[in-house]
Amino acid sequence: MAPTATVAWKDRRLIILDQTVLPTEVAYIQLATVADVWEAIKVLRVRGAPAIGICAAYGVVVAALNAPAGDARACIVCVKDAITYLGTSRPTAVNLFYALDRMKAIVDTADEDLTKEDLIVALEAEANRIFREDIFMCRAIGEHGASLIQEDCGVLTHCNAGGLATSGYGTALAPMYIAHEQGRSFRVYADETRPLLQGARLTTWELSQAGIDVTLICDNMAAQAMRERRMDLVIVGADRIAANGDTANKIGTYGVAALARWHGIPFYVAAPASTLDMQTPDGDAILIEQRDPDEVTHWQGCRQAPEDITVYNPAFDVTPASLITGFITNKGIITPPYEINLAKALADTTV
Ligand code: MRU
Repeated sequence: MAPTATVAWKDRRLIILDQTVLPTEVAYIQLATVADVWEAIKVLRVRGAPAIGICAAYGVVVAALNAPAGDARACIVCVKDAITYLGTSRPTAVNLFYALDRMKAIVDTADEDLTKEDLIVALEAEANRIFREDIFMCRAIGEHGASLIQEDCGVLTHCNAGGLATSGYGTALAPMYIAHEQGRSFRVYADETRPLLQGARLTTWELSQAGIDVTLICDNMAAQAMRERRMDLVIVGADRIAANGDTANKIGTYGVAALARWHGIPFYVAAPASTLDMQTPDGDAILIEQRDPDEVTHWQGCRQAPEDITVYNPAFDVTPASLITGFITNKGIITPPYEINLAKALADTTV
């Protein structure tokens, strides 16, 4: 069963599933302005690297639709402002900038004689292409990674890199969906993923909807679960993969990778080509988003820690390439040496 739609473009309206209220409510909302899109990305109504990029691409179309009537010139100014503004929403996931750069290329190459409507059509077509390509990339990731999931095995995942984070089957969860379609039974362990509980709220929700056996654990239980050999492999998603293979993903991923190495468990990162960032040489150059301390001190508006306590709240961490067994990508499974093989895979247009 294909996962629930996360971002939809219907009759020139941008609709998203509001992930902040899942799993207790399934609420779809319209993002009618660029400010709505920025806010939705910032507060994680829409989240997950590919979904952020797709939503931002449609956000650019929203900007064009809301631009004053007239020739394309005024519209181009609004669109460029929107691209700059949306780029300030979240810094770590490269997919956001990948999508915005593609939208910018449309206006940069636009003919000055175009009408506003011509420009909207061109922007809409590009956003639709980004959306559809993501569906294909997710499916390909699933097909390449499914054979890693053997009958009766246990798989650990961290955060949510499923359908909710993309326009398709997800990245880390895609091999699980395909292995399930192929009739294999296996167990998934989902880390709850403090502080915003993407694992507890989202991964468990979408996997159980698909009929996949999923067990929720707190983040601090992974070591014990590995020691008991409950899992045979780990698959996580990625927000940005540097040229040397260092990978930014949800905070806590690095710890899981270190634990997996200690226990001799293979650790895979699943990601589409749009998450590879060859301009960033290594993990030290990845900007890590710092988030509001209230996410750590509060839960659903209730304070859980003393007033004025100092909080450190990075949203992501960087797993060194040396801890990664392989990258499950839409172009196949990539193994070390990553400096060479990631660039080679990206350059290969035959797959
Ligand atoms: O802060 P989030 O929920 O956007 O973080 C999401 C993750 O870290 C995912 O693992 C990553 O974006 C990959 S999604 C296919």
